[in-house]
Amino acid sequence: MYQLNKMAVVGAGTMGHGIAQVLAMAGMEVVLVDKEAQALMLAHQKISSNLKKACNLGKISPQLESAALERLRISEDMQAIRDADLIIEAVPEILELKKEVLKYVDQLAKPEAILATNTSSLSVDEIAHSTSRPQQVIGLHFFNPVHIMKLLEIIVTKQTSPDVLTCARTFASLIGKTSIVVHNSPGFATSRLGICFALEAMRMLEEGVASVEDIDTAMMLGYGHPMGPLKLTDLVGLDVRLAIAESLTTNLKNAAFAPPAILRTMVSEGKLGQKSGQGFYNWQEKKSPRATQLNESHT
Ligand SMILES: NC(=O)c1ccc[n+]([C@@H]2O[C@H](COP(=O)([O-])OP(=O)(O)OC[C@H]3O[C@@H](n4cnc5c(N)ncnc54)[C@H](O)[C@@H]3O)[C@@H](O)[C@H]2O)c1
Repeated sequence: MYQLNKMAVVGAGTMGHGIAQVLAMAGMEVVLVDKEAQALMLAHQKISSNLKKACNLGKISPQLESAALERLRISEDMQAIRDADLIIEAVPEILELKKEVLKYVDQLAKPEAILATNTSSLSVDEIAHSTSRPQQVIGLHFFNPVHIMKLLEIIVTKQTSPDVLTCARTFASLIGKTSIVVHNSPGFATSRLGICFALEAMRMLEEGVASVEDIDTAMMLGYGHPMGPLKLTDLVGLDVRLAIAESLTTNLKNAAFAPPAILRTMVSEGKLGQKSGQGFYNWQEKKSPRATQLNESHT
């Protein structure tokens, strides 16, 4: 009953452009919508460059590179989502914004379209209730970078119809992801677990327990994590981590999730991680980012 041919992604930032790339590579037509022309231009450039890199490395064929680009459209006009079968929002982690965006999407989308949110921590149930079709709203939580990370965390609410869940699982396999199904609860499975490490790593840095690099190395070599919690925070975005920590503190009523001062300070200074060029590491030196010295960022 549900189709998975035409896709729309709303929000062309870190996640939106990655999701659009993966869908286009999987043979789906995709329109990427953003309110900022600049974000769309950057997203298109990043996708083109990722595909070129993959082609040069022999990971994809030149045919796939050009076919994926042909299947991708960008638009500043939300009307472009009208004929999509599945619309995934990837706008910033702000509940009211997500509700407002999905409410508008709901008004424009065809009745049988499935609406999805890429929220990392907000209530999918609350977002779903901003639409007239909560049974067709689902959480599709992708991971960064989307074309590399294998997991798709599917979040269901009490209202999500079983057919929509089946469709979401099919969608995951069509795009080459492994899906897990999690019931709507603050932080789901992944954000709730992942943020514990990140916040504790920040507290240790604040207390001068060890350097950025040594804290990251502890988790990589001591526990086999592919990347340390501070570098991962740089990739996710410190602003995104802060929003998740605030939301979990409130919703789980657990002080363990309270954002450390260092996180608030760095976000207020615009040190958002890789996307701003500076986070716990300096990303301006692209090849191997240098860890920020303790006295550089925390005074
Ligand atoms: N960054 C990560 O690693 C990561 C990982 C998993 C999930 N997420 C989640 O994905 C979502 C997006 O995060 P991001 O890091 O990609 O954010 P981002 O800030 O990089 O991008 C958000 C984009 O949304 C656009 N936007 C804002 N309001 C809009 C509107 N009304 N209509 C259309 N476009 C609008 C912005 O112009 C921007 O380009 C968040 O919910 C976040 O929690 C992020």
